[in-house]
Amino acid sequence: MFGALKEQPADKILALMQMFKDDPRQQKIDLGVGVYKNAEGHTPIMRAIKEAEKRLWKIQNTKTYVGLVGDVAFSDSMIDLLLADTLGRSNIASAATPGGTGAVRQAFELVQLAHPNARIFVSDPTWPNHLSILKHLGMEIVPYRYFDEATKGVDEAGMMEDISNAKAGDVVLLHGCCHNPTGANLASFQWQQVIDILLKIEAIPMIDIAYQGFGDGLEEDAAPTRLIVKSVPECIISASCSKNFGIYRERTGVLILTSQDKSLTKMSQETLAYLNRQNFSFPPDHGARLVTMILNDAELKASWQKELEEMRVSMLSLRLELAAALREISGSYRFEFLADHRGMFSRLGTTSAKVQKLREEHGIYMVSDSRLNIAGLNSTTIPILANAIISCGI
Ligand code: LMR
Repeated sequence: MFGALKEQPADKILALMQMFKDDPRQQKIDLGVGVYKNAEGHTPIMRAIKEAEKRLWKIQNTKTYVGLVGDVAFSDSMIDLLLADTLGRSNIASAATPGGTGAVRQAFELVQLAHPNARIFVSDPTWPNHLSILKHLGMEIVPYRYFDEATKGVDEAGMMEDISNAKAGDVVLLHGCCHNPTGANLASFQWQQVIDILLKIEAIPMIDIAYQGFGDGLEEDAAPTRLIVKSVPECIISASCSKNFGIYRERTGVLILTSQDKSLTKMSQETLAYLNRQNFSFPPDHGARLVTMILNDAELKASWQKELEEMRVSMLSLRLELAAALREISGSYRFEFLADHRGMFSRLGTTSAKVQKLREEHGIYMVSDSRLNIAGLNSTTIPILANAIISCGI
């Protein structure tokens, strides 16, 4: 049996993580995997998480099962964080999942159950694991134009034309904020254009939101999701707590289904429970419980928001610093897009050969499509990166 196994394609982000670990050079710089790092290059446990863990250790007196969709209080808290009062709770089904990836996977499986022939429209480019999971499930992928290589912004005309080709029942996958891997995001009026198209063709939006609070702020980053949920008959949302709560390894995420028709909520909810049972039974509880504690305690919530805001502002100032360093060294304004992008990532827009050169000659690691993790930088490494970018002819 095992002899029949075939080699599977490596995930390029995770493969890069390993290459970085294996590189013996002292001066190497990791701009690969999407993990927040402070100026010392450390990924800290957020203060509110540490405090919630201490409290939990004192009060938790059982580790028995919770429920197939996790603790309802977690879902309620996440729905509140993402959607506020956009839609009544009776219009929403929700389940805890192992991380945002778990939510994405369950969402695709749910689409398969409801519409076996649905096609999934994905931005070109998108997070590579979207494509990998879809291929694994044998689902049809239709890329839509998204990134304009010339402006390093959104290819608005291309995107709108391509998603217009979706049919009723197809799913259009959107990044709620902080587009991964490009860092280029839709403006409010462009979100409205997307909604108008979705309504016309009766395609269903799926919003993957993994960076709420990393772009323009918690409320601002949730605004497009809220606008969509309010405007369309049905919406699928996969959300991750990995980055904004810094609990990567705890695998904490949520899948949310919204419908204007309340009568659909019961079946949606039962389907989410069924899917969890088939795949892993009960979702992990620890991270979800910490998030629930934080979001329901004024002191912990204020601490979390403050630290998240510090992280966001720090990434913004790194963007400005890098753009300024490149302006000076290149004597041009061609890197200003770095200051306009939002979230952890920006796509430099260069060839994989030049990305390889950066890695081999300068020990600077970024994903082969030239995605760099801004949070991997600090004031010492910014001039090193800027010089290397110019000396590699980017
Ligand atoms: C990333 O895009 O680097 C992160 O979302 C980590 C991952 O799982 O790929």
